[in-house]
Amino acid sequence: MEGHGPARVIAMVNQKGGVGKTTSTINLAAALAEYGRKVLLVDFDPQGALSAGFGTNPHELDITVYNVLMERKTSIHDAILPTDIENIDLLPANIDLSAAEVQLVNEVAREQVLERALRKVSDDYDVILIDCQPSLGLLTVNALTAAHGVIIPLTAEFFALRAVALLVETIDKVQDRLNPSLQVDGVLATMYDARTLHSREVIGRLIEAFGDQVFQTVIKRTIKFADANVAAEPITSYASNHPGAESYRMLARELISRGGAP
Ligand SMILES: Nc1ncnc2c1ncn2[C@@H]1O[C@H](COP(=O)(O)OP(=O)(O)O)[C@@H](O)[C@H]1O
Ligand SMILES: [Mg+2]
Repeated sequence: MEGHGPARVIAMVNQKGGVGKTTSTINLAAALAEYGRKVLLVDFDPQGALSAGFGTNPHELDITVYNVLMERKTSIHDAILPTDIENIDLLPANIDLSAAEVQLVNEVAREQVLERALRKVSDDYDVILIDCQPSLGLLTVNALTAAHGVIIPLTAEFFALRAVALLVETIDKVQDRLNPSLQVDGVLATMYDARTLHSREVIGRLIEAFGDQVFQTVIKRTIKFADANVAAEPITSYASNHPGAESYRMLARELISRGGAP
């Protein structure tokens, strides 16, 4: 693709940890990049797992998304890093971000701080993916306010469904009060185990609850994702022909065909 932007902003949200938010952010981005999209990844979790997933040591960084949010003198351009993957840039985070949740409370328009920062680079990218922390606090509300769409990754397990009701309530509130055009781009089942009846039943229940918002693409459970993570690479480059890589390419195509990635 020749020109880029304006970017469509997508928040990857689930207040439960370990559901595949970061893994899906990395690998969906890599697949979109293969399809020619220019992608900015925003690490919005103080754990910095997304940043580490691209081989940066987040704790050695002086300028992160925290500085962009909290200091008027720091431009977003100063914090964005290139990655080893063509077409993917990274706005990193580290533990500093954990202070932002408290400090933002006293800011004017505290829910819009991330949106304002991202607006400055909207014309440089096709898609901006925000990897949220496992909470529904002010940082996640900032992500939902900045976003056009939400992707909800969740593990194909019954207990995972319960958390989603509270998440949907939060999305509704943000739509109501801050971001009327916010939409749910899709619900993504991860760590699916086709051998268990349990996994298949959960997909059935998800479709009952969310209808065609559930992505047809389902991400199977495989150790290759952890291996790729150790290698600090997306699975699309670490094991390009692995079914796990293929499934994120399928997800990217599904998102594009739904209008979720220009
Ligand atoms: N489809 C999958 N199959 C097996 N393991 C996975 C899969 N997706 C993610 N994982 C692993 O599960 C753990 C949690 O995933 P992660 O993406 O960090 O979740 P979150 O960001 O929601 O906390 C990581 O160790 C990751 O490598
Ligand atoms: Mg994560």
